[in-house]
Amino acid sequence: MAGEVALSQALSYARDLKCAYEAARARESELVEANDRLRKGYQQTLQYAVDLKKTYCRLQRTIFQSLLGLANALEAKDPYTRGHSTRVAELARGLALRIGLSHLAAETVAQAALLHDLGKIGVPENILRKPGPLSDQEWEIMRRHPVTGAQIVAPLEFLDDGAVIVRHHHERLDGSGYPDGLTGEGIPLGARIVAVADVYDALTSARPYRARFAPAEAIRVLHGEGGRTLDGRLVALLVDVLDAAPAAQGTGGAGRPVADGWDLHDAPERPV
Ligand SMILES: [Fe+2]
Repeated sequence: MAGEVALSQALSYARDLKCAYEAARARESELVEANDRLRKGYQQTLQYAVDLKKTYCRLQRTIFQSLLGLANALEAKDPYTRGHSTRVAELARGLALRIGLSHLAAETVAQAALLHDLGKIGVPENILRKPGPLSDQEWEIMRRHPVTGAQIVAPLEFLDDGAVIVRHHHERLDGSGYPDGLTGEGIPLGARIVAVADVYDALTSARPYRARFAPAEAIRVLHGEGGRTLDGRLVALLVDVLDAAPAAQGTGGAGRPVADGWDLHDAPERPV
């Protein structure tokens, strides 16, 4: 009798055990399915993120190209300024890399250089193309172009640093520049770089009222301005960048970067 009870109990345990095992198997397979769904969902989200990033980058490029098209169209109208921004951007990129800025920071400087005179879109043609000297009133209008340019690019988050450079590319070390009369290292580094490249290219380009300067002559003028209106260390390094083969320009110019703690954000950003 006792043996029968024990057997019945054992069979009951076995049945319970089987039920528990089957329930566990069913839960396990549900878990596997849920995990699979979760993994697929995660992969889909990752794909969405990649697609979104691609779309954002495409959008950035499109916006930048549109602004560039605008700036180039403005320059192309005038044979004296045609290609100016592209040359300034190449020189500025070379200088930025020469002083040891990262490729990303150098690209920001180059992008700002490409757009540095975009604000001239707000200057009437008769002032922009005037062959003779400008009147005081005309100068006042012309001097607004850095602010106008910065205001155009400022709403674009990816051009934040560039907007600061555009705004300050006519500042001069001794405070004689515009729009804010910043002095010395109070001028953002990117703007000091673009200023040196801008002045060099302007001097070596013909104007209606003067012939172009030979490169050596332009460098002499720049050396005269170094430490007074332009950053003297950048002027000295410009010679290295110019000495490099044209193919080397845009990759840092001649020689190794002189990394001595230069930083694109070494001057306080100004509100645009
Ligand atoms: Fe300018």
